[in-house]
Amino acid sequence: MGELVLVCGGAGYIGSICVHELIETGYDVVVFDNMTKGHKDAVDSRVKELVVGDVRNEEDLNAVLSKYSFDACMHFCADSLVGESVKVPLKYYDNNMNGAIELAKALTRHNVGRIVFSSTAAIFGEPNPEFVPIAENCPKEPTNPYGETKLSIEHMLRWTTNAHDLKATCLRYFNAAGALPNIGEDHSPESHLIPIVLQVALGKRDKLAIFGDDYPTRDGTCVRDYIHVVDLAHAHIKALEYMKDESPKFNTFNLGTSNGLTVKEIIETSRKVTGHPIPADVGPRRDGDPATLVADSRRAQEVLGWTVRFGDVESIIRSAWEWHQGHPDGYAQ
Ligand code: NAD
Ligand code: UFG
Repeated sequence: MGELVLVCGGAGYIGSICVHELIETGYDVVVFDNMTKGHKDAVDSRVKELVVGDVRNEEDLNAVLSKYSFDACMHFCADSLVGESVKVPLKYYDNNMNGAIELAKALTRHNVGRIVFSSTAAIFGEPNPEFVPIAENCPKEPTNPYGETKLSIEHMLRWTTNAHDLKATCLRYFNAAGALPNIGEDHSPESHLIPIVLQVALGKRDKLAIFGDDYPTRDGTCVRDYIHVVDLAHAHIKALEYMKDESPKFNTFNLGTSNGLTVKEIIETSRKVTGHPIPADVGPRRDGDPATLVADSRRAQEVLGWTVRFGDVESIIRSAWEWHQGHPDGYAQ
C-alpha cells in the first residue's frame, strides 16, 4: 500500500491532474472539494473517496481527518482570478486565507506531517527586469489581493512549521497549461489565454482580445512562462518525497520552463496547431498584468531533482487542443 494523501481542491484543474499522477505513482488518494469550481468527472475513479466539504469548515475537515490516517496533504483550494480579487478582496481573504488557516489547524490537530501548497508567480508582483528570470529570493510585492493572500499563506505556513510538527513546501506555479487526454481545463468563466484561444478555434467564440500591445516586450504583448500541468504534478510528488527525508521544515520553489512567450506567440503557435485563423483584436490592457513573468526553476531541479519533460509550448498547446476537441463543452457533456 502506498502513502495516503488528502488532496484538497482535487476536483479542480491542476488538482485533478495531480490526483491522477499520484495514483499512477502508487499513492492512495482522498479528494476533498466543495465543488464550487470542481468537476466530478475530472476526479480519477480510483480515489478512495471524493468528499464534498469546505476547507473553511472545521467540522468538514475533522470528519475526513478522523476517518482516515493521512501521511500528507496537498492544498489546491483557492479563488484565483486576479481581476476579481481587486474588485472583491474580502472573498479572497475569506476563501484563501481562512481556508488555509483552518486546514493548517486541522493538519496539526490530526498529526499530518507534510503539506504541499499551491502558490503563484503573482506573489512577485511586477518584478524589476534585473530579477527576471525570477528566482525564489526575488522581492515579493504583490499587486493584487490574490497574490497578497498567497504570500500571506506562505508566511503563515512558515511560522506554523516553526512551531509544530509539520513540514510545508510552497510551489509557485507560473502559467499552468496543457492537459491529459481525459483531464483538462474547464473554468467558468474562463479567463486563461490558452483555453480562450482554443475556444475560438473550436468556434465557441468569434475572436479574442489581446490585452495590450504597448508593453516593454519584443512584440509589445505580455510575456509568460507556460508550464505543463503534468510537469507541475510531478513537482508535487517530488516535494512529498523530499519532505519525507531530512529536508528543512519550510521550502519554496518557483516552477516554470524559463521560456517566456508573448501573447502573440501563443496565438501564432495555436494557429499552427489547430489550423484555424484564430482572429484576435488588440484591446486595452487588463488591470494588474505584469509585462513579464518568467521563472528561474534551477532550485527545483537541483534540490527536488525535478525536470521539465513537456517544455516546448507547441506540445503543451497540442495536449490542450486534444482535450478541448474531445470536450468542446468541457465536462458539461
Ligand atoms: P480550480 O479552480 O480549477 O481548482 C480549485 C479547486 O478548489 C476547485 O475544484 C474548487 O471547487 C476547490 N475549492 C475552492 N475553494 C474551496 C474551499 N473553500 N473548500 C473546498 N474546496 C474548494 O483552480 P486551478 O487552476 O486548478 O488552480 C489550483 C491552485 O493553483 C489554486 O490555488 C491557484 O491559485 C493555484 N495557481 C493556479 C495557476 C494557474 O495557472 N491555473 C497558477 C498559479 C497558481
Ligand atoms: N490574455 C489576453 N487575452 C485574453 C486572456 C489573457 O491577452 O483573453 C493575456 C493576459 O493579459 C496575460 C496572458 O494572456 O498577459 C496570460 O493570461 P492568463 O489569464 O492566462 O494568465 P495570468 O498570467 O494572468 O495568470 C496566471 C494564473 C495566476 C498566476 C499567474 C502567474 O491564472 O494564478 O498565471 O503567472 F498567478
